[in-house]
Amino acid sequence: MSNTVLVGAQWGDEGKGKIIDILSEKADYIVRYQGGSNAGHTVVVDGKEHIFHLIPSGILHPGKICCIGNGVTVDPASLIQEIQGLARAGISAGGRLKISPLAHVIFPYHKVLDELREKKRIKNKKIGTTRRGIGPCYADKVNRCGIRMVDLLNPRVFRDKLQDTLDEKNEICRKVYDHPGFAYKPLYEEYVRYGVFLKPYISNIISLLHEANRKKKEILFEGAQGTFLDIDFGTYPFVTSSSAAAGGSCIGTGVSPVDIDMIVGVAKAYTTRVGEGPFPSEFPAAFGKFMREKGSEFGATTGRPRRCGWFDGVLVREAILVNGISKLALTKLDVLSGLKTVSVAVAYTYKGKRFDEFPRDFEVLKKAKPVYKELPGWQEDIVKIKRYKDLPANARNYIAYLEDLLEVRISIVSVGSSREETMFR
Ligand code: GDP
Ligand code: IMO
Ligand code: MG
Repeated sequence: MSNTVLVGAQWGDEGKGKIIDILSEKADYIVRYQGGSNAGHTVVVDGKEHIFHLIPSGILHPGKICCIGNGVTVDPASLIQEIQGLARAGISAGGRLKISPLAHVIFPYHKVLDELREKKRIKNKKIGTTRRGIGPCYADKVNRCGIRMVDLLNPRVFRDKLQDTLDEKNEICRKVYDHPGFAYKPLYEEYVRYGVFLKPYISNIISLLHEANRKKKEILFEGAQGTFLDIDFGTYPFVTSSSAAAGGSCIGTGVSPVDIDMIVGVAKAYTTRVGEGPFPSEFPAAFGKFMREKGSEFGATTGRPRRCGWFDGVLVREAILVNGISKLALTKLDVLSGLKTVSVAVAYTYKGKRFDEFPRDFEVLKKAKPVYKELPGWQEDIVKIKRYKDLPANARNYIAYLEDLLEVRISIVSVGSSREETMFR
């Protein structure tokens, strides 16, 4: 394996955590480059489920170095909870978890403003965020009033920055949202304590990864969210606030684009989405509920029910373009077992016009009807199947059809949540 970016090809929750865990075996470094604790990446090992929000999903492999890049927004309380949770499971992050000093820090006012802003939005403008403070924290970063991990280590710098930003945040809380705001002293003291706890983990990720490249070590970049939640390429404004697409891996770590060798996409064998926003291939309500239960489609971070739909070829083709995906991992194929037929969206239509490319006009995207290709389903339970050639013929047909449609190789097929329930081609 060479330096690889693993990226979600849909709206998140494609099963990235599981695939990262598998690819981590051959990698030396596993690096998160964007997002924050809005992510929920599930890894199942020996029947035990681990859900990671900030710590890279490679941490379960002893000896691997796991990095949180500058493009990530870090909620220290959430991170410390994860570190302590791992310790209780007998896994030490000490010496293996590295946090960029340049990563921005999430404060309680980010979470409260995330929540208040959502509440204030009128019905069809709500995003359905995870309320983890992601949008407000990235907004501060871009607005040049953010506080970074390195600042927590210098009380003088931190005091000054917090005072400045908190004054403004409190005015916004009080004048716009009728919220009492935050007292300076307890907040300052709380975050100084986080700084003390996290200090041993903070290190120069830029030179660490450059040194890794020099020594021909292998880096695996762990994308969070998915291409259609990307701030630029997603279904804006129903997106997250970071660069989830593969390009974010350079911006969010300091690794040069010339050092990226391969992009692997992850797509579910159908489609899901949590939160609001257009979803052309969404199932009708009753079938959606049936599939949600069949696929256990409930959010790993918020527990919210995920909306479900057919595989959308228009969407994933766009993801392949935007990211430069050359290999695809197809997950949750087992969930489609038992259906008489399975459908794939191959284009959209709106007002008599056909769209083969992903439309960017919001009205079209919201109202477009998919053109479906219907394929025969398979009835067998496929979870225990180990070899691709042993899959039912109709399941193989489905995969072959997707490969033709997407013009990409599906090199990993996942048929269950655990490591063993995976086929490599
Ligand atoms: P991520 O955010 O992309 O890492 O995905 P999540 O962890 O949020 O959601 C994926 C869910 O599907 C998790 O509960 C996984 O354990 C589960 N999962 C992953 N691959 C498979 C699969 O092939 N089959 C089944 N049935 N479940 C899977
Ligand atoms: P992983 O990494 C699925 C969605 C939220 C909401 C929108 C904006 O597990 O795939 P935010 O809190 O980021 O401002 O919310 O993005 N969202 C995700 N959906 N998987 C995720 O992460 C998500 N992270 C954010 O539901 O619609
Ligand atoms: Mg998830």
